[in-house]
This record gives sequence, C-alpha cells and structure tokens, in this order.
Amino acid sequence: TRVAVVGGGASCEHDVSLASAASVAGSLDPARFEVLALTIGRDGRWSTAGGASLGPSVAVSLARAVDLLGGCDVVVPVVHGPHGEDGTLAALCDLTGVPCAGSPLRAGALAMDKVATKLVAASLGIGTAAGTVVTSATAAALRFGGPVVVKPIAAGSSHGLSLVTDAADLAPAIAAALLLDDRVLVEEVVTGREIDVAVLATPDGGRVVGPPLEIVVPDGRLFDTTTKYDGAADFRLPALLDDISLEQLRTHAVAMFDALGCAGVARIDFFATSRGWVLNEVNTMPGLTEQSQVPKMFAAAGMPYPELLAALVDEAVA
Ligand code: DAL
Ligand code: MG
Repeated sequence: TRVAVVGGGASCEHDVSLASAASVAGSLDPARFEVLALTIGRDGRWSTAGGASLGPSVAVSLARAVDLLGGCDVVVPVVHGPHGEDGTLAALCDLTGVPCAGSPLRAGALAMDKVATKLVAASLGIGTAAGTVVTSATAAALRFGGPVVVKPIAAGSSHGLSLVTDAADLAPAIAAALLLDDRVLVEEVVTGREIDVAVLATPDGGRVVGPPLEIVVPDGRLFDTTTKYDGAADFRLPALLDDISLEQLRTHAVAMFDALGCAGVARIDFFATSRGWVLNEVNTMPGLTEQSQVPKMFAAAGMPYPELLAALVDEAVA
C-alpha cells in the first residue's frame, strides 16, 4: 500500500506536526506500507522528502503535490491545526479522489471551531465552559469580571492561549489570540482534573475507546504550550476514575466522535469537575509522535504504535 504522509502545515502547529509526521512516516510497517513523505511549509508551499524520513526536501508545486497524492492509495494527513486538521486536507483528498485517513472535512471543521464543538456538545447534554466570542470589533466592549481563559477559536497546542487573572491583562491577551484567529473565545476557568480519552474507528464501523489519560501539571501552571513540551507535565495512565465516571466519560467521548462525524482516531479532552464531565475540546488529528498521548493510550491498552498507525490506514481504505 502506497501511503502519503503529509506533515508540517501553514499554522502555528507546524513544528508539532512535523514531529508527528516524521514519527508516523518512520513507524509505518515497511513490510506493508511504502511511504511517500510530503511537507507543507509555514508559507503553505509543498515539498517532498525522500524515504521514510522527513529530512531534506524538494519544493513542488501544488499541482504536482496533488498528482503525487493521487498516485498513492491513501493519504495520512498528519497536520495539526488550521489548514490541515480543520478539514482542508481531507477536502483536498476528497476532490483528488484518494482515500484519506482520519476525519472527513465536516468533522475536522466542526472540531477545529471551539464554538461549534460547544454547540454539538450542548446538543448531547455534555457540559462545556461558558464563554463569550469576541472579534477585533467587539473586544474593547468586554469587561473583566474575574479570571478567564482567552484562546483563538481555531488553533491548537495552546498557541495564543492565556490565563487572565488581572483586568489589565485582558486586552493584551485578546490581541495575542487575535493574531492567530479572527474570532477569540473568552471562557470561564474550569477547575478540575484534566483527562483525555481517545476513540478509534475500526474498519467494520466499531469504536475502540482507549484508557483515559490524566494530565498532571505542577500547581499553578496550565497545560499550555510550555508545559506541553518542556516535560513539566506528567501523564497518569490510566487515569484513576470510579466505574461510573469512567463509563460516562466513554459514552460522552463516543457520542462526540459520532455527532461530529469523526473517523480514524480523535482525542477528546475533558475536565473532571464537581459538576461532572466538562468537555474541553476535540482533536481530530491529535499529536501522533510515539510519546504523544494517543499512542501512549493505545500502547497501554495492548496496541503498539505501528499497529495503531496500520489501523488508521486500514480504516481509511476499508
Ligand atoms: N494539537 C496537538 C497536536 C494535540 O492535540 O495533540
Ligand atoms: Mg488541541
């Protein structure tokens, strides 16, 4: 099977995507898969990279990139964030007529939009943090009424996110988030344990839910762009939960996966709070290095990383 692995991307998550894509390209079983690695630059330009590594690359036109994708049996778009995970790559594959691993356009677009995700969650009776949408036109009218989290509506890896505890910091936080998106969410701060769960679709239409993973960050810090990558956060796998909470979590996760129309694998992030589960967000192309949450969850459940990758490809071509 010829597999195109696409990494990078024209978003703030470019580097994270490159790391995920290099890991995926290097770990797809060479006995089953022939890998063609492609990267999208921060400027949106495509290039090819030889062999299983995403190393030195040769620039190609978009038309050539589409030809190369069309010559493969399946595309694995390992591009986090806007211009990738938001459904754009799934749409490109769709128009090109090549199967694409992971979520289709609609699920990617809905999940990349944190407001749309909240609406879907609410329709399922799943709680989310209360929030207000602001744009550059409305930001000045917003009054500080207590601690809030400010984030771009479509971004990832916590880029552009700030915890604001001081009125004077609100406007700069909104300005920073507006650099990454033209809509910004100003949300109440959710207090609770941060617990992620992954759902994997199987070729026969089944759903496998991995063991939940708890993110433990040092007191007073957020699981943000810094703690995500500086090693300060610890994973507790499986997260310790009572049977009822665990069952609710699994039910909520599968309900979100299906309501959004996800495919492949998605990581669905929740907070365990005194008022029950609160959905934080859904990642339709979660971090996929071998050390990322999703591969660790499935490995803990007895599915090694190369098997998880094979499952993603197999579901796409099923
Ligand atoms: N957006 C990052 C890559 C994640 O969800 O893991
Ligand atoms: Mg995310």
